[in-house]
Amino acid sequence: MPSRFEILDKDAGGRIGKLKTPHGVVETPTVMPVINPNIQLISPKEMRNFGAEILITNSYIIYRKEELRAKALEKGLHGLLDFDGPLMTDSGSFQLSVYGSVEVTNEEILNFEKEIGSDIIVPLDIPTPPDVSSKRAKEELEITETRLKEARKLIQGKQLLAGPVQGSTYPELREKAAVYARELDFEVYPLGAVVPLMEAYRYAELVDVIAACKKGLSPKAPVHLFGAGHPMMFALAVALGCDLFDSAAYALYAKAGRYITVQGTLHLDKLNYLPCACPICSKYTAEELRTAPNRQELLASHNLYVTFAEIRLIKQRIKEGNLLELVEQRCRAHPKLLDGLKRLYEHSEWLEEFDPATKSTFFYCGPESAKRPEILRFEKKLERFKLKGKSLIRTRAVKGEKEYENVLGFKPPFGAYPLEMEEVYPFNAEVPKVPDSEALERALKNTLKLIELNPDADYTFICEEDFKHPFLEKLAEKAKIVPRKAWNQ
Ligand code: GUN
Ligand code: ZN
Repeated sequence: MPSRFEILDKDAGGRIGKLKTPHGVVETPTVMPVINPNIQLISPKEMRNFGAEILITNSYIIYRKEELRAKALEKGLHGLLDFDGPLMTDSGSFQLSVYGSVEVTNEEILNFEKEIGSDIIVPLDIPTPPDVSSKRAKEELEITETRLKEARKLIQGKQLLAGPVQGSTYPELREKAAVYARELDFEVYPLGAVVPLMEAYRYAELVDVIAACKKGLSPKAPVHLFGAGHPMMFALAVALGCDLFDSAAYALYAKAGRYITVQGTLHLDKLNYLPCACPICSKYTAEELRTAPNRQELLASHNLYVTFAEIRLIKQRIKEGNLLELVEQRCRAHPKLLDGLKRLYEHSEWLEEFDPATKSTFFYCGPESAKRPEILRFEKKLERFKLKGKSLIRTRAVKGEKEYENVLGFKPPFGAYPLEMEEVYPFNAEVPKVPDSEALERALKNTLKLIELNPDADYTFICEEDFKHPFLEKLAEKAKIVPRKAWNQ
């Protein structure tokens, strides 16, 4: 079967893709609003007005309730929900993780999902929570794997089949589970049991889990982050290569009077103003929204507007090639997200494999930027530069530089680079005039490496007044360091 997923654009680990389903093509990254078959604050049809292209619902809830089950079997899932676009169905695994058991087998729920015409079918995987013993994680993974195999045998046709990846908080197990799923060849790969990590703001571990799963999957495969619905972490997850999210948050938060923003969640009861440009927040004052008879529906609408606006922004950033700048901004909204950002860049070596060679101007947004994949790539290329004779390293043009055989630019966090590349990505980077210690350290380290690779040249380094770092002493052993002021005299 030809692949149902086509990648159109890329930035860092993120991509814009097209996923073909029997009920239409979905552009990713996107969020699937969760539809509760029992209660609907906003109807499936109306979801399109917010930007939803695909919805997700729970086949187990439908299966369990006689009235819903009969209607779904008679009219199909699309008839039941009165929606003619793509629909994904979960299997009851989430209920399994909450209540400990479900009254259905893998085969039964798969056949039911198939029969009611789901576009993306999910088997009954076991969502093993974080921090369990490795014995339990392995045992449960074995059951999940047996069920995935059973599912693949059962579902082979137009409908897409998802192969969830479990493995708790063990990266090796996650990677192994991903390799197993990859070999069975699913159309979508959900990463499971990450909800407890997100609820506890354990973003660094979430990054490790996503990276481990991604390493075992094909880079061409679409990945769904199960239960991720808060827009503040979409950019981070997309940069790691997640393509699909699902959100019950818009409705659950609305019920609890919580107002979603890309910087975190606010309580409507505490808001004096509505800091948002969506139609709801433009029409109502905070007080009017609080006291509106349909407050829950209005709040859910705002939550959806904000959620899809973030998706559009992320897609635009991927097109422009500045997704990482957005990730860095978003991850400053909460210290735990900042932990996530730091962990993301611990995977820079891996990210660098996917990151396009040229993109829009690199913006240095803070000390974490010093660990971006682009810096690693430059570091690897240092060996290509051959230097001999008198070499001058300076941040900007100085008098008398014509007397030097080589003139090198110096820009933290990159370090010394050939001047011909000044206008070329990533050396055309926008950086602060005064580098932070991380940027300067990285730059000095790279410069030292370049000098060590070319020991026959003779080096002069023009040092800006703002440059203060212990590595300057190391540099002084290999280069003549002249303060800019002294040079100008
Ligand atoms: N919803 C949230 N997490 C999970 C998971 O791990 N598996 C399934 N099937 N659904 C989920
Ligand atoms: Zn709003």
